[in-house]
Amino acid sequence: MERLLRKAKALKGEITPPADKSISHRAVMFACMAEGHSRIKNFLWAKDPLSSLTAMRSLGAEIQITQAKEIMVNAKGLHSLKEPENVIDCGNSGTTIRLLSGILAGQPFLSVLTGDDSLRQRPMRRIIEPLRLMGANIMGRAENTLPPLVIKGGHLKAINYSMPIASAQVKSAILLAALFAEGETSVTEPHKSRDHTEKMLKSMGVELEINNNTIKITPPEHPLKPFDIVIPNDFSSAAFFIAGACLVSGSEIIIKNVCLNETRTGFIEVLKSMGANIEIFNLKEQAGEPVGDISVKTASALKAVSVQGEIIPRLIDEFPVLCVVATQAEGTTVIKDAKDLRAKESDRIKAMTTELSKMGVSIKEFEDGVEIKGPCRLKGARVYSYKDHRIAMALSIAALIAQGETVIKDADCVDISFPEFYSLLEMLQR
Ligand code: S3P
Repeated sequence: MERLLRKAKALKGEITPPADKSISHRAVMFACMAEGHSRIKNFLWAKDPLSSLTAMRSLGAEIQITQAKEIMVNAKGLHSLKEPENVIDCGNSGTTIRLLSGILAGQPFLSVLTGDDSLRQRPMRRIIEPLRLMGANIMGRAENTLPPLVIKGGHLKAINYSMPIASAQVKSAILLAALFAEGETSVTEPHKSRDHTEKMLKSMGVELEINNNTIKITPPEHPLKPFDIVIPNDFSSAAFFIAGACLVSGSEIIIKNVCLNETRTGFIEVLKSMGANIEIFNLKEQAGEPVGDISVKTASALKAVSVQGEIIPRLIDEFPVLCVVATQAEGTTVIKDAKDLRAKESDRIKAMTTELSKMGVSIKEFEDGVEIKGPCRLKGARVYSYKDHRIAMALSIAALIAQGETVIKDADCVDISFPEFYSLLEMLQR
């Protein structure tokens, strides 16, 4: 599907973005390992977390959809999953395939995991290696680097693992396998990535010791506790509207009930340092996470920044839209240490460089990032999403400040994380 967008007048009003994708995946997977009934309200009704839900059902989990966006899980403990009768299709979802591999590494049966064209090109050695060290039989296509994956789990032993890159998916796969392993597992990341897994497992009664970037975990002696949660809304989805309101003149919006976990909000820190007009209020706790409302007004002037190092994992999914903001900042913005962006749903460094260039942006691609010279008058163009939801949404925000018309090819991929994206964008435009 193609989407035509024009320059926007102003974004005004209040929106509730969709539920957090990372937390939705974890909630449905982890609830299936508890003993008892869990209730998950505000589950993200989008393709990615639905891949996790369907996968858990194919492993025998009892999951009921009780109302719109509410699910009930009736689970019988850590060892209650069953061998799937068919190959499990993880769709476009890296979180599904990697976290599930961690769980399946601990199961005494055979599973085969695959996904769509994009997922079958995403690197899996990063989970195969540590899970093999723990004793799982796990193989992948292309010399154990790509899906489909074949997993026959079994008796796992604890490991001390130092991760070469910061990745919440890899960290989570190891922590989940560690629930089934003998002894204390420790995992260390070079920088801290999102910690939703740690928070949720702790709330279920798992003993986790967190020291800087090292997590130690021992298999639970008691059944995992079920939970009753309302999932907060997704900061990464909110980020597109934060950027839009910063850039489109005369804008003033409020984004409701957003998860503000600091392992996710590096984008706000960077935008504020660029001169953005962003405020946070109504702070509270929900589902063990800090949550609040975000108000954004058009920035009067933005200045370029340098983004690198520790903050990269805390804004990794906001890279595409951060590039769009940088086009309007005075000076040269540099983003580096972000090579893993080439292994996301698309090569996001190449995608943003190629497509923003078509819109007239002076952008240079490096192996691990980009350099963008601003401010720049964007011009409408025919651009491509690479079937990557975050590229489609970032280019849509660029279209709001471009002269003329922009057409985005394969824009329907927003359904992966944010099916209501275009209707909310239309609603805000005055
Ligand atoms: C995610 C972790 C990140 C992120 C992805 C969601 C998660 O991936 O980019 O969108 O839910 O754990 P990596 O672990 O590959 O960095």
